[in-house]
Amino acid sequence: MSYVARQDRPADKASAYLEVESEILAVLDGEPNRVARMATVASMLADAFGDYFWTGFYVVDPDRNRELVVGPYQGTLGCLRIAFGRGVCGTAAESRQTQIVEDVHAFPGHIACDGRSESEIVVPVFDAAGDLIAVFDVDATTQAAFDTVDAQALERLMAKVFGDGA
Ligand code: SME
Repeated sequence: MSYVARQDRPADKASAYLEVESEILAVLDGEPNRVARMATVASMLADAFGDYFWTGFYVVDPDRNRELVVGPYQGTLGCLRIAFGRGVCGTAAESRQTQIVEDVHAFPGHIACDGRSESEIVVPVFDAAGDLIAVFDVDATTQAAFDTVDAQALERLMAKVFGDGA
């Protein structure tokens, strides 16, 4: 397996995502455990992109009504629980839509787990039946770090790793 060099801003983000996606899928081949799959995705993406400051999952808590609880992540301490509809993660869970936030300070209700975060992307994660199982959250310490290239690549990756692959 080739090693994806850590770069703060890969010149060609789309290609970098494709490369790390194929590595992630190779590592996860035959591994059904969802925690292992989430931990591997968080680790390999954080390693591939130097500007990923906080990288990880908030999973839908089956024991609480409309609440996310922190899952596998890489980075500084994350908040433990986020209600649906609160912050960027709760908004992604509620709407089932990817959220791209260029300036977290301008997002109403943004939850600041680490004051160094400046921009953020949150992608909903669905299982093969189309049920929401988690959201995937990435924070950066620079403003406007994420765009539709990140959104499309991360949505495709989450579908391949946790969903129906489409
Ligand atoms: N900022 C997020 C909370 C999670 S942390 O960034 C790890 C939000 O507003 O939902």
